[in-house]
Amino acid sequence: MYRITAASALAENVYEAWISAPHVSRHAEAGQFLVLRIDEKGERIPLTISGVDGDLVRIIFMTVGTTTRRLAALKEGDTILDVVGPLGEPTEVKSYGTCVLVGGGVGIACLPIIAKALKVAGNTVIGIIGARNKDLLILEDEMREVCDELIITTDDGSYGIKGFAAGPLKEICETRPPDAVWVIGPAIMMKVTSGVTKPFGIRTFVSLNPIMVDGTGMCGSCRVVVGGETRFACVDGPEFDAHAVDFDLLMSRQRFYTDEEKESATHHAGGCSCGGNH
Ligand SMILES: Cc1cc2nc3c(=O)[nH]c(=O)nc-3n(C[C@H](O)[C@H](O)[C@H](O)COP(=O)(O)OP(=O)(O)OC[C@H]3O[C@@H](n4cnc5c(N)ncnc54)[C@H](O)[C@@H]3O)c2cc1C
Ligand code: FES
Repeated sequence: MYRITAASALAENVYEAWISAPHVSRHAEAGQFLVLRIDEKGERIPLTISGVDGDLVRIIFMTVGTTTRRLAALKEGDTILDVVGPLGEPTEVKSYGTCVLVGGGVGIACLPIIAKALKVAGNTVIGIIGARNKDLLILEDEMREVCDELIITTDDGSYGIKGFAAGPLKEICETRPPDAVWVIGPAIMMKVTSGVTKPFGIRTFVSLNPIMVDGTGMCGSCRVVVGGETRFACVDGPEFDAHAVDFDLLMSRQRFYTDEEKESATHHAGGCSCGGNH
């Protein structure tokens, strides 16, 4: 059993939890994820390791379906049955020069741990974090602390620059081209935003979030096409060369289980007492 040592809400529908999982925290590197299962009837879900502190790992998640809603209801002192990890290939951390990290929505959760690792490797780090509005923006203070410069965008202009993160990224590419860029957020945001760096020939990484089941390369559910080749996001990724990813295929595969997810949400909204995820 894995104990939750702290749990709080960061924004509407976005929650943070610290879990005591020494076997994960001891080996975790930037860019990796864990797979957790709340109880024996629960679904396994992948979540990025967004921070590490001694024996503790941090997760930041948006409530979108049954399991994330159940997770959000857990409090300090509650336990989780399984926490498997760290999984996936770590971020390619080296001395690039200047790096820009772009985060959209809950994708911002992945950035501080990557920013810290890139800083330690001697890079100048510029952060661009964007959300639909001011209330949905997360981790501003933490990003401000770790980045050399932080730019904020909101779709509605309620805070920072009005518009999408792609705007300031384009301006940076035109005026002071960075050496490497990371873009992490919803698939459509990664597709559009990483398209900005392509004409400039700037190395760009995205962290893909296809449906995952086992997280070990065995089931094939997380397959994505990168550079015309089939890759498994759980073991070959989740980070890939943004300019080689087939985003349209990724988005169509993400919608694969929509009917089952809706059925599960309806079933659990009715207050099923089994605690499972079916
Ligand atoms: C490597 C990896 C890291 C991730 N890290 C985070 C994270 O740090 N924070 C976070 O909030 N989410 C993260 N996700 C997405 C997270 O796994 C899903 O939100 C979660 O599995 C949904 O489970 P559910 O039972 O609540 O919803 P479900 O009922 O299973 O699904 C509800 C809706 O959620 C979306 N969804 C389902 N599975 C995924 C998925 N694997 N990726 C993206 N959207 C999905 C779909 O739109 C779906 O219709 C990550 C996914 C991957 C693959
Ligand atoms: S999740 Fe099963 S192969 Fe990647």
